[in-house]
Amino acid sequence: MSKRYTITAALPYTNGPIHIGHLAGVYVPADIYARYKRLTGNDVAFICGSDEHGVPITIKAKKEGVTPQDIVDKYHAIIKKSFVDFGITFDNYSRTSAKIHHETASEFFKTLYDKHEFVEEVTEQLYDEEANQFLADRFVTGTCPKCGNEEAYGDQCENCGSSLNATDLIGPKSAITGNVPTLKETKHWFLPLNKHENFLREWILKGHKKDWKPNVYGQVKSWIDDGLRPRAVTRDLDWGIPVPVPGGEGKVLYVWFDAPIGYISATKEWAAQEGKDWEPYWKDKDTKLVHFIGKDNIVFHCIIFPSMLKAEGSYILPDNVPANEFLNLEGNKLSTSKNWAVWLPDYLEDFPNQQDVLRYALTANAPESKDNDFTWKDFQARNNNELVAIFGNFINRVVVLTNKYYDGVIPEASDFSEVDTETLATVKAYPSVIESSIERYRFREASQELMNLARLGNKYLADEEPWKLVKTDEARTKTIMFIALQIASALATLSEPFLPFTSNKLKRILDTHSNSWTDISTKDILLPSGHRIGKGELLFSKIEDKTIQEQLDKLEASKKANEAANKEVEPQKETITFDDFTKLDMRVGTILEAEKMPKTKKLLVLKVDTGIDTRTIVSGIAESFTPEEVVGKQVTVLVNLAPRALRGVESEGMILMTETPEGKLVFVNPDTTVNSGLQIS
Ligand code: 2FM
Ligand code: ZN
Repeated sequence: MSKRYTITAALPYTNGPIHIGHLAGVYVPADIYARYKRLTGNDVAFICGSDEHGVPITIKAKKEGVTPQDIVDKYHAIIKKSFVDFGITFDNYSRTSAKIHHETASEFFKTLYDKHEFVEEVTEQLYDEEANQFLADRFVTGTCPKCGNEEAYGDQCENCGSSLNATDLIGPKSAITGNVPTLKETKHWFLPLNKHENFLREWILKGHKKDWKPNVYGQVKSWIDDGLRPRAVTRDLDWGIPVPVPGGEGKVLYVWFDAPIGYISATKEWAAQEGKDWEPYWKDKDTKLVHFIGKDNIVFHCIIFPSMLKAEGSYILPDNVPANEFLNLEGNKLSTSKNWAVWLPDYLEDFPNQQDVLRYALTANAPESKDNDFTWKDFQARNNNELVAIFGNFINRVVVLTNKYYDGVIPEASDFSEVDTETLATVKAYPSVIESSIERYRFREASQELMNLARLGNKYLADEEPWKLVKTDEARTKTIMFIALQIASALATLSEPFLPFTSNKLKRILDTHSNSWTDISTKDILLPSGHRIGKGELLFSKIEDKTIQEQLDKLEASKKANEAANKEVEPQKETITFDDFTKLDMRVGTILEAEKMPKTKKLLVLKVDTGIDTRTIVSGIAESFTPEEVVGKQVTVLVNLAPRALRGVESEGMILMTETPEGKLVFVNPDTTVNSGLQIS
């Protein structure tokens, strides 16, 4: 039965591009769900937008010496483009700086204010005397009182997901100056979550929310069981939506108050563009509201936002909040600040037109019930062993053989064997198999079922061997190809939520645009005899080891560059006298010979002309230079360093080096050729 769905995907903070973790955790599953709901004939509003307020944006702007508006304008455009590039089919991708959002959020706040749903209170808040600023949210870090994470923020610990008040942090430190904050009185409006505890208990714990994912239900239950406290929904900041009530001057709404309202304002904006009424999407109790988020957003979507909606009184509540866990990258936590990520614009540059490969690899390995690791090796295996070897191979065989045997025209089928009938019945069952996984938000399982359908096609062809029969049994060959073409057509439709670009290509090749999801399980014939298909196109291509190695090298290099960029400048060493300095005898040396020290990775054994003599120096530079690269180079040598034995070779001096941000060693050498032995002073 057709229903109305309001499907939201977490509004990304607009302080950087998005990476594979965002895609895997939120946007790909949300898009699969939205596409599937549309394909099965429902009325869908798939909503998202840029989260443009909040401290992360202010911090980024300060760091880059630009305004927060510059930051959000830049990243809104980049993020929006990535979503389009990856086929994420939002009905509206809005932004929280939009006028309609400011109006909607202000109005929402005023309604709660007028209904006395807030508690207005003057409390002591953390203050940075040097920066002259209250320290809320990400402007302050400290130790989480719940789990001991030393990098918890003033509003939340990303390690255990707890929602915090800044004053809860142990050992708080200003993220602006590094100072220990003082306390200063200020007035704020608090949402008394304690007042909503009973409602939340009834709605989530005693309602039908047991079918929520265990990770979501478990977290929410433990927070409610711990007892809820009032939570400030305003801030002493200058970037955000002004507090629209008396006494609110100079204050803004807490970003987590305004951001989820962004779902509502984006729906309003979309409805106005489409000439629709937005209200049923948020107020009709038959509408299903589903929030796709990452696990760090659970408290906001399952406790705070529902309490706001309930307090307002006229809105529906989420039917489900299928939050995912986190995706790691090659064994380490994805991190924007540490640049440990695969950014979507970079991926597309390196893998043009291969969006579906990433969508598939991320879905097949999605962090649905526990944190998962993305590895480039797994990505390669998903592509080569599944997309190329199973899906692509099946389609390629069907299309090539149909063109070769029948000039692209689908042949007549005659008597069906038992295997044929069974195969067709199995194909008909696939929509409900996939559907059952999607309905339980098990997208990885769903993607594997899709692949099983391609496997079925491959097995059918391999068992029936039309390429052998074509010589002896024309009628049977035609029947086999007819059935294989029906499977290919089912794949074209059922792959749409998962592999939208491939699905389009395949529909184009087969010229099969007319089938809907339900046609696959109800129609006996998806592609009729006599229909002409097009020429083959390669759906997927093999990814070589070299390409994967390049990605691994790129990651390693970006990690090193980032470490170098963030490296604190070493403090100056103890002062020395001029006499101390003159004790150092530094000379220009010329490297005459070089060879690798056997059984080591780092060491080169050099013969260096120091002008005084030719001596052996063992240097740890083999990871930056080959022996051939250094022969003939002039370098700075500390010649009167006491000799020492390295791996049994006596080293009589030291070559002075420094390190580039990428971690490559470079010589400190004269920029023109001079005589060996010249003193450096
Ligand atoms: O965690 C985040 O990236 C937030 N910007 C998500 C906001 S979701 C919604 F409520 F707007
Ligand atoms: Zn914690």
